[in-house]
Amino acid sequence: MSQRTWGGRFSEAPHRLAQEFNASWSFDQRLALVDIEGSLAHAAMLAHQGILGPEEEAQIRQGLLEVRQEILEGRFEWREALEDVHMNIETRLIERIGPVGGKLHTARSRNDQVATDLRLWLRGELSSILAELGVLRRVLVQEAGRFLEPPLILPGYTHTQRAMPVLLSHWFLAYYEMISRDAGRLQDALDRLNESPLGAAALAGTGFPIDRHLTAQTLGFTRPMRNSLDAVGSRDFALEALAALAIAQLTLSRLAEEIVLYSSFEFGFLTLPDAFSTGSSIMPQKKNADHAELIRGKAGRVLGSFVALATVLKGLPLAYNKDLQEDKEPLFDACDTYRASVKLLAAMLPGLQWHPEPMAKAAESGFSLATELADYLAEKGVPFREAHHVVGRVVRHCLEQGKELRDLSLSELQGFHPAYQADALELTRLETAIHRRRSYGGTAPEAVQEALKAAKKELV
Ligand code: ARG
Repeated sequence: MSQRTWGGRFSEAPHRLAQEFNASWSFDQRLALVDIEGSLAHAAMLAHQGILGPEEEAQIRQGLLEVRQEILEGRFEWREALEDVHMNIETRLIERIGPVGGKLHTARSRNDQVATDLRLWLRGELSSILAELGVLRRVLVQEAGRFLEPPLILPGYTHTQRAMPVLLSHWFLAYYEMISRDAGRLQDALDRLNESPLGAAALAGTGFPIDRHLTAQTLGFTRPMRNSLDAVGSRDFALEALAALAIAQLTLSRLAEEIVLYSSFEFGFLTLPDAFSTGSSIMPQKKNADHAELIRGKAGRVLGSFVALATVLKGLPLAYNKDLQEDKEPLFDACDTYRASVKLLAAMLPGLQWHPEPMAKAAESGFSLATELADYLAEKGVPFREAHHVVGRVVRHCLEQGKELRDLSLSELQGFHPAYQADALELTRLETAIHRRRSYGGTAPEAVQEALKAAKKELV
């Protein structure tokens, strides 16, 4: 009991189960390095303000650096009885440098300490996730560029029914746009969390003449948080990051789903690289898209992390409550999961082997060019609604005759509407249809080329 920093008030040791239940060291040791960074800044500020003597501060700094070394070298012995990362490190500091180590916690509480640690940790984590996302965004742009000359055509779908042909490059750039917005959301969360809770102490500030601006500056925060209750009691910064991560994982999940579909025998649009697929233990013919499926499945997990923390926060009174210790595992897990998914996709996408023939065949069959024939009539002045109806009858005729649109003769077409001329037959060709979609953001090669240029510019 005596080894606990708060042991003074107590005459009985905690129950074994109570101690185990309360402890967070097994997961919050991930905060060890930022905990020490925060302590170094705090001690330096205390000395600057004359609250610690220069000699005392030097001893504390030296001691903290030694403890950091122990941690980095894996020599540090974590003790459950010391509950969490903060008390493990502080106790070790006092063991190493003696009672002066006990002065580090002057004008500070674990409440502002843990909030500071988590913000520092998340700041670093989000920055490195954003760097990984930069790699994935580059890969998407590079793949979009690879299939433009000659343009590879993919059926575009609505309701999972063939709708209109699009360029494969256009498809890649759609994910580029979505993932770039995900990056923007993570960046927003990062910008907003970068404020310092340190010095809010337990919940109400402190009577010591501390300088919160100084510690904020030392730690690279934009400013100290304005309200001490808010500083120690809020976790919306973590929740915002989780929301952004959940949305971002959902995007990856949609991309993964398309990879699963397109690599299936039924679609046959792409073959997965062997290095990114698995076999079956019983069916020798199988080549499964396990990794894409896992990315899809992990969306449930990341969204679950968001819901877990949101539920912890709902109805929680100010300021610190131990419930807040539950903020860490979902946050750590969501960051790990998303990062791993991003890295996996960036490595896998360039290895996908796309198959132009089945893609083009699927793109032009299933009447995906029917809209062209309706647009043709509309351009000749036929009201679009009427044109739509005419082409509906053309499609039904083809279905009855077992024909595709390109099999129709001009006289057959004219049987449905006299405005059809020879150039209408051109429209039933895939390339013509694609080239016509030149509107801004459309799938014509020129439009996609423009989008690609803009994306490349964003990435420099
Ligand atoms: N391990 C605790 C957490 O993660 C640190 C803060 C504890 N503060 C307290 N007053 N018990 O939230």
